[in-house]
This record gives sequence, C-alpha cells and structure tokens, in this order.
Amino acid sequence: MKLFGSMENVNGVLHIGGVSVNSLVNTYGSPLYVIDRVHVENIIDTMKNSFKSDKFATEIAYASKAFINKAMVQFINTKGLSLDVVSDGELYTAKVANFPSEKIYMHGNNKTDEELRMAIEYNVGTIVVDSKEEFFKLSKIAEIANKVVNVILRVNPGIDAHTHEYIQTSKFDSKFGESIFDDSVITLIKDMINHDYINFLGFHCHIGSQIFDEKPFYAEAEVMLDFIKKIEDTLNYKIKILNLGGGFGIYYSGEDDPIDLDIFLKKIIEILENKLEEKKLSIEKVVIEPGRSIIANSGVTLYKVGSTKTTYSGKKYIFVDGGMTDNIRPALYQAEYEGVIANRLNDTSCDTYTVAGKCCESGDILIKNKNFVTPNINDILAVFSTGAYNYSMASNYNRLKKPAVIMVKDKKVNLIVKRETYEDLIRNDLDFEE
Ligand code: LLP
Repeated sequence: MKLFGSMENVNGVLHIGGVSVNSLVNTYGSPLYVIDRVHVENIIDTMKNSFKSDKFATEIAYASKAFINKAMVQFINTKGLSLDVVSDGELYTAKVANFPSEKIYMHGNNKTDEELRMAIEYNVGTIVVDSKEEFFKLSKIAEIANKVVNVILRVNPGIDAHTHEYIQTSKFDSKFGESIFDDSVITLIKDMINHDYINFLGFHCHIGSQIFDEKPFYAEAEVMLDFIKKIEDTLNYKIKILNLGGGFGIYYSGEDDPIDLDIFLKKIIEILENKLEEKKLSIEKVVIEPGRSIIANSGVTLYKVGSTKTTYSGKKYIFVDGGMTDNIRPALYQAEYEGVIANRLNDTSCDTYTVAGKCCESGDILIKNKNFVTPNINDILAVFSTGAYNYSMASNYNRLKKPAVIMVKDKKVNLIVKRETYEDLIRNDLDFEE
C-alpha cells in the first residue's frame, strides 16, 4: 500500500487532506470519490518544472477524459495547463467552466459535423485532425463559418509500446491518425498547408496508455523529429508544433514500475534538444498530454463494507456498496488495485479476501485475493489510485447512483460533483404509450 500526497495514517485511521475517512463518509456518504488536491498539485508542479526548455516553448495539456467535471476543468485552468477534449460533451464542460478556448485541443477519430462546428464556434485553439476525410469535412465547415482554424495532424509513428517492441510495422492497423509511412500523407499535409481556411501547424501522436517503459517515448520523439525534417525538406514549410501525447505509466499496485516523471520528462527534453541540433531543426512548441499520470494517484474511493461471505469452497469475500459501476477497470482490463480497511489501519488481523461490488454480475470484482484485516460491517474500505478513468467511466448499471466527488486540502472539503439522486436516474425516462 502506498499513500500519496496528504494521505496519512493518524492513529490507525486514514486521513486525506487532514480529514478522517470516517468524517468524510459520515458527511458525504459512500461510495465516495476523494481527490487529494495536494498530490495533484505536486504532480503538476513536477511536470512543469521538468518539462521545460530554453530551445522551444513547452505546454502541458491535461487529457480530460481521465477525469472531467466543471471543477476539475476550473482547477486545471488555475494551474495554467491546457486541455485536451475528445467530444462535444468534454468541450461543453470546458465551455461552461470558462476554460480559455485558445488553450483547448480538440481530438477524436470520428468527430461529427456538430462537434467540428462547435469547436470552430467556440474558437478552440487547435483541432487535431485525424484523417484525410476529416480534413475535407473540417475545411468545408471552416469555409462556411468563414474562420481560419489552427490544425495539427494526428499521425501514427508506428511505435508499438504495449508489447515493448517499437518495431515500426506493428501498429499499422491502429484506428487513430494517418501513418507517417504512407506517402499519401505528404499530399494531405500539402493540401492542408495550401487551404485558405486551415492554418497547418504541426503534428500530434500518442503511442498508448499506462506505459512503463520509457524507451518507446524516446523513440517516438526521435521518429517524429525525423518525420518533421522530411516534411520541411519536401514541402519547404516550417512545422511549429509537436504534440507527443500522454500515456505515462503510474503505480496501481506492487507489480507496477511507474515512470519517474522528473527524470523522464527531463530526458525527453534532452533527446528533443539534441535531435533538433543534429538535424539543424527548430520547433516553436512541444506539447505533452498526460491524463492518468496527473490525476490517478490522487484519487481514493471510499466504500462501506456491507457484509462478508465465505463460500462453500472457502473463498472469502468482502462486499462493498459500489463496484464495477464506479470502477469498471478491473472487469474491463483486469486492472489491479490496492485497498485497505481504512478505519483500522493498525489492526494486525489479516486474511485473504476478494472485494466484490453489489452489481448483478460475477465479474463485479474490485480486488482479487489480497490481504485485508478482518472487516466489520460498516467499516470503510478504501481503494487507492482511482482518480483516472473511474469517475469518467462510471455507469448506472443496475440503476446505481453515481457517487459524489470531493476534493480535499488542508482540512477543507470541496464537494465538486453531487451524488446522483433517484430523480437523476429517471431524468430522461418517459412514459410508456399503449
Ligand atoms: N492523448 C490522447 C490522444 C489519448 O488518446 C489519451 C488516452 C491521452 C492523451 C491520455 O493518456 P494517459 O496519460 O491518461 O494515459 N480507459 C483506459 C485508458 C484509455 C486512454 C485513452 N487515451 C484505462 O482506464 O486505462
């Protein structure tokens, strides 16, 4: 078990932001998503301090899909980061949170006409074009709106990070971007450069998520600068922006070997600076787009233990009042999490338990076969590192109400998302008509 940021064991009770989990659950109910603001702030500060260069400007765009709501967008804005959105819904959230539109990157491999129109209308800073067809669609919409849009093209640099083999042929079938090995991409770039309503600025790439090995990222940076050199020489056009995406692996459980952001980001900068010099290139700005590495470790989900069960075969379960509806990742990706009985941290009794949720589904398991103190009914079970892709992937399966989200710092609790109500559940339901 790893405690991040302000999380601490005070006389056997987990405290986050100086407040005990007992008090948080008593006041805000359970399940409850808790964000430790100190830890997010520390991570953002580390990223800002390590990802900078005197050869080019740097920018950190938070990948909002990891965890997005109005308050989070406002918080990201106070930290001076940019924002990556991937749908009209994320863009709308950014808009109502008054996020500066010029600092938004609009993503998506299949943006609808409505999304493109919305992005143009809202003066989104940069649209990340995913394909030839999308360029045609966007350029027409921009022309009708009579607005010149800033564009970068998402390309596939052919780096397969997940298998730890960055062989350039292995990822040609990805649904994202246009391959840098396909010669027709040069024609596409030329067409974008020549289009009156497109201001073509550069490239985006993203090689995957929760990657522990730094080498594919270094390879990505080098391959992209080689590609930029080729494009500049072929088309006699200056490329200004390179966006390297996100995907930096974090700690969920003991088996994980997370990326040390400080060392890693400084190394990326060094590789870029050296390669730029070697290639006699210059670039105005390099962008990264982390999501998980900004928010995951700051999140803790608090549940109440409802009951326990030992099956006929001897398997021991702890049942909690949430489950796959608030954290789909174990069921979907076999993701491993760590958890504790958070109100009895100093208890020494210990047994192997599986933590299961309350959904009607056998796969509704949060943690498999890990050690816990023997729980009592109404104890608080905390699952760590749930800040990313938990709330944002939550569902109402079995008509469970989505939990509230709070952000805590220095004993101050900020309720940022209310717990759903029965009324919320039926908000869009209409009556049967015979
Ligand atoms: N940029 C682009 C274009 C992306 O597609 C993603 C993630 C990111 C940035 C941020 O990646 P991160 O730094 O968060 O790894 N639901 C999955 C993760 C899907 C990630 C999709 N794209 C999960 O729960 O593991």
